[in-house]
Amino acid sequence: MDATEKKRAAAKAALEFIEPGTRLGVGTGSTVNCLIELLPDVRDRIDCLVSSSKATTALLEELGFEVRTLNEVGSTDVYIDGADESDKHLQLIKGGGGALTREKVLAAAARRFVCIIDDSKLVGMLGTFPVPVEVLPMAQEFVSRRLVKLRGQPVWREGFVTDNGNHVLDVQGLQIVNPLDMEERIDRIPGVVAVGIFAHRPADVLLIAGDDGVREMRT
Ligand code: 5RP
Repeated sequence: MDATEKKRAAAKAALEFIEPGTRLGVGTGSTVNCLIELLPDVRDRIDCLVSSSKATTALLEELGFEVRTLNEVGSTDVYIDGADESDKHLQLIKGGGGALTREKVLAAAARRFVCIIDDSKLVGMLGTFPVPVEVLPMAQEFVSRRLVKLRGQPVWREGFVTDNGNHVLDVQGLQIVNPLDMEERIDRIPGVVAVGIFAHRPADVLLIAGDDGVREMRT
């Protein structure tokens, strides 16, 4: 199976978590796009939808779904999203697509967070994938200097502006021995909007697509 087939397989496996009357949060990225293509098949099971990005909203609306705001809906039953890396504790790095802040809010607001990945993303220790950090544009240099003090090498994702009007720093070289601690340390830097380490709110269910099918891990 190639990477796209694995993404499709993981997305298909996630459909079983959409039960009748589900208030569903939808993440962002190419794996989630595979899920979005399948959502019309389970339309009658979805009570309402909340989206984590403008890109996801546009795709959902193209398929005729009405996208509600989290303010309207309050919370969701299930949030389904991809990730850039997961460890065996289902702690994640997310934000390769730059939607990390809204994704973090939707993950926090969900009763159950189902993460869909292909097996190349399951790692022993988080941090090979550069950690995305959304920052206020005026604080970018300040935050960069603080990240260097944490032994990271921040690289500005030039030309990219988040849906919230902010910038993204991709931080290479971080030794993420303790993801909970690293998430807190980066979150505490003034000017940081969100860090793409999802350790305090890990996934509840991880669906990992490999050559032999999709296996499931739970926290
Ligand atoms: C977007 C994300 C994505 O979930 C993550 O980047 C994985 O993307 P893809 O499914 O395209 O590999 O966090 O902000």
